[in-house]
Amino acid sequence: MAKTDQPADDSIPQHIAIIMDGNGRWARARGLPRLAGHRAGTENLRRIIKACVEVGVKYLTVYAFSTENWGRPEDEVEGLMGIFDEVFERELAELLREGAQLRHIGRLEGMRPSLRKKVEKGIEQTKDNDRLILNVAFNYGGRDEIVDAIKAIMAEGVPPEQVDAELVSKYMYTKDVPDPDLVIRTSGEQRISNFLLWQAAYAEWIFPDVYWPDFGREQLLAAIEEYGRRERRYGKVLEE
Ligand code: FPP
Repeated sequence: MAKTDQPADDSIPQHIAIIMDGNGRWARARGLPRLAGHRAGTENLRRIIKACVEVGVKYLTVYAFSTENWGRPEDEVEGLMGIFDEVFERELAELLREGAQLRHIGRLEGMRPSLRKKVEKGIEQTKDNDRLILNVAFNYGGRDEIVDAIKAIMAEGVPPEQVDAELVSKYMYTKDVPDPDLVIRTSGEQRISNFLLWQAAYAEWIFPDVYWPDFGREQLLAAIEEYGRRERRYGKVLEE
């Protein structure tokens, strides 16, 4: 790594996606309630956004709440919604300062109205920022996304012979965003969990063995460095 502590430009993934896993276990290991883990995870997200801006990552997608997470105990779901409610308001100024643009992927209609308003306001107020595109996957499911795309393609009467991967990509929630180069899942778990099923087809995956609240700037730089050492072949053989 260069003296500046930052990886050389060509080794930086343009788009990083993160499954922020392990908040609950982080809290349990400290004898704290699970929500304390989600709060610590939220603080950490701020650090990671800052580091991404600094290093020159252009797109960051984070898995905040899946379509399956509604099945968690009611008090945890309520607590998480409360955290999101606070965060979207409090962090808006920070996003503006960092030059980050907020976007949402998933089904907005599942959000409670007060939260939805805040997210929509955040999207509107940051729409001209371009240092970092922050995609928040909330009420997101990879299979639902594909189902929604198929429905839209059929509803528009697209003839079957025009359907190819490029066209399908245009019907995904991420239509204006390049596919992730690197997907990170913290906490040592190694599963895709319905995250970016379509888009992560050729992503590099890294599974750091730390809980999300402990995955700081240093761990991010280490993951980027490891990414820089990977050889991406996209199913092909590289020339000798
Ligand atoms: C996974 O840990 C984490 C979540 C389901 C919630 C992620 C949310 C945040 C980090 C809040 C910040 C996000 C935004 C966009 C404001 P887990 O609960 O599954 O942990 P465990 O596997 O140890 O139980």
